[in-house]
Amino acid sequence: MSSYRITLLAGDGIGPEITAVAQKLLEAVAQKHRFGISFDPQPMGGAAIDVCGEPLPASTLEACRSSDAVLLAAIGGPQYDSQPRQKRPESGLLALRAGMELFANLRPVKIVPALIGASTLREEVISGVDLMVVRELTGGIYFGQPKGRVKTDSGEERGFNTMTYSSSEIDRIARVAFDLAVGRQGRLCSVDKANVLDVSQLWRERVDAMAGDYPAVEVSHLYVDNAAMQLVRNPRQFDVLLTGNLFGDILSDEAAMLTGSIGMLPSASLGSDGPGLFEPVHGSAPDIAGQDKANPLAMVLSAAMMLRVGLGQDAAAASLETAVEQVLASGLRTGDLMAEGCTPVGCGAMGEALLAALN
Ligand code: IPM
Ligand code: MG
Repeated sequence: MSSYRITLLAGDGIGPEITAVAQKLLEAVAQKHRFGISFDPQPMGGAAIDVCGEPLPASTLEACRSSDAVLLAAIGGPQYDSQPRQKRPESGLLALRAGMELFANLRPVKIVPALIGASTLREEVISGVDLMVVRELTGGIYFGQPKGRVKTDSGEERGFNTMTYSSSEIDRIARVAFDLAVGRQGRLCSVDKANVLDVSQLWRERVDAMAGDYPAVEVSHLYVDNAAMQLVRNPRQFDVLLTGNLFGDILSDEAAMLTGSIGMLPSASLGSDGPGLFEPVHGSAPDIAGQDKANPLAMVLSAAMMLRVGLGQDAAAASLETAVEQVLASGLRTGDLMAEGCTPVGCGAMGEALLAALN
């Protein structure tokens, strides 16, 4: 019997509540599909700042690196916003991505039929949307040097960051996107700002060069401003969207809203080998933390993604996803998804309903 060790990073805000739901479901699904699973909870983000004074303690990174997969809920909170950059929860997340060399971030956006009414967009625009954002995660302007803030001679302050990609960084993320496109509808759209940025010109050239290796994949390019518009104008045109760190951050939040709520979107962050990190796209929602109002579904779907992509337990992943579809079809909704005629539930009750659906 296979057995897996999962590092669990509950983090901040609604993190602990949605983690509790995911853990219970993972235990149940492991029993059902006959594999072992154990959890190693570690402090991360603001929760780690509170106990160790830093957002990513070395012991947490080490635990993540030596486990079979990492499941992270959410980090961040207003009480940390005034801290210096290195003492902020977000720096811990960036250090975790860098420390585990997770260069490929996959964010699938698939419309759940029961939630079509929850989107702010019209049904004819969003029905049938099934796309995958492939975001480069350990480079670009998030990590480029030089960066910082300086006082200029004229006494002004100047802040700066550098958007930079090397050809090898572009190639390895492009390869992930091309491989995914082969297993999907065979369409890859690369998003850049090549009409203005040198870094984007290189990006586009490398993607075009790789296209020769994938004759079955139809490659197109969009400038990021146009891509942002096309995503709400006609999202069905997209299959795989390949893009850099900053553009991917922005476009994946936009794409999330096609599904009605950012509370529905899972993600996987992968390196060339080693464990992957699985986390919902949404944040820690401090405004509703601890009130049993959070939507645990993105976290549960991230757990499913972990089972499929990280651990190769496809049937168990499908069980979790089916449970999510069933509770939604039965009309249960957390506040973010509430619609007329549906039954409002809290985070805990949603978890219980998922458990019942699973069994
Ligand atoms: C995300 C988040 C992070 C990012 C923040 C919390 C650092 O927005 O995962 O999309 O910008 O990458
Ligand atoms: Mg983001």
